[in-house]
Amino acid sequence: MTDFAERVEQVSISGIREVFEAASEDAINLGIGQPDFPTPEHARRGAIEAIENGHTDAYTSNKGTRSLREAIAAAYDREYDLEIDPENAIATSGGSEALHLVLEAHVDPGQEVIFPDPGFVSYDALTRIAGGTPKPVSLREDLTLDPATVEEAITDETAVFVVNSPANPTGAVQSEDDMREFARIADEHGVLCLSDEVYEHIVFDGVHRSPLEFAETDNVVVVSACSKTYSMTGWRLGWVVGPNRRIERMLRVHQYAQACASAPAQFAAEAALTGPQEPVAEMVEAFERRRDVVLDGLEDAGLEVPTPQGAFYVMPKVPDGWCDEVLDRDVIVVPGGAFGANGEGYARLSYATGTEELKDALEIIDEATAAVR
Ligand SMILES: Cc1ncc(COP(=O)(O)O)c(C=O)c1O
Repeated sequence: MTDFAERVEQVSISGIREVFEAASEDAINLGIGQPDFPTPEHARRGAIEAIENGHTDAYTSNKGTRSLREAIAAAYDREYDLEIDPENAIATSGGSEALHLVLEAHVDPGQEVIFPDPGFVSYDALTRIAGGTPKPVSLREDLTLDPATVEEAITDETAVFVVNSPANPTGAVQSEDDMREFARIADEHGVLCLSDEVYEHIVFDGVHRSPLEFAETDNVVVVSACSKTYSMTGWRLGWVVGPNRRIERMLRVHQYAQACASAPAQFAAEAALTGPQEPVAEMVEAFERRRDVVLDGLEDAGLEVPTPQGAFYVMPKVPDGWCDEVLDRDVIVVPGGAFGANGEGYARLSYATGTEELKDALEIIDEATAAVR
């Protein structure tokens, strides 16, 4: 009889979904992992015009249209002074597929993947799906990832370590010094650094730097996407950039699993990347204002909360029973344990929700916190 693959049996449906399913219809949702802004008009138009002109009826090249890959390369040049050959980019179905490609192409059964705990739920699951062994590592008090922790965790079996800045679920942003260290570790240990930069543009304090800027070997690959930057989660368009020999291996997986990213989404992404960037700046300003409202509210409720410097999440330390108390009052938050064992005792709140709703939620959180104290 056909049984299920062991790799897949080890993976369960994300704990975040369970929280959503348990919530009532009029709950205030602070569990959301996507911006609450519309996709910029010029990005939508890019897709509409391409559809109307008959440019989206056929497969594109496996890596994606040349003009999209040129737009991706131009963005790295503009923002990081990095020269990326458009041949060394693959357009993917969101950042999610890009993460999958990196791990499928680099992890052999039994090899280890180091990633932050608490960290984005896909790192553990995609490692297992690739047949690898997850090696979650703890964070500093401020919820950033210490390069020294990564270096200590490296063994002969390590295939990949993941860096995610700005981070989900913490909102933490790694410093330039840390990014230099991650690049050095990738260089010196000959281990691949997978830098997940899907929140690269949503930074309030400091600047986002990439280990790719500092690496001297070809041991860094970068995953990013239009999803968060341009509020395009539904379009499913991301990418991976990296050295040619790695791109060629990832392309083998992408070619057979996906053929190419959706053509309309590729045209929307090209328009997003090459058009006016003001909508991004406006969204980031709105997120920063909301972050300050949420930080004040949580601190007033008496919670200890590291200041997130990017993305749109905040991760306070919470007392026992806090998440249930908040969920019972119809505010959806995600228990930190959904993001790894070290997330226990924390909760993730997303502020991709209007300010008035946030204020209502903070009042409820204040009552719930008092009730569990
Ligand atoms: C850290 C991180 N990486 C990757 C992704 C995947 O994004 P996409 O929607 O582009 O697949 C997400 C989505 O929440 C994320 O938070």
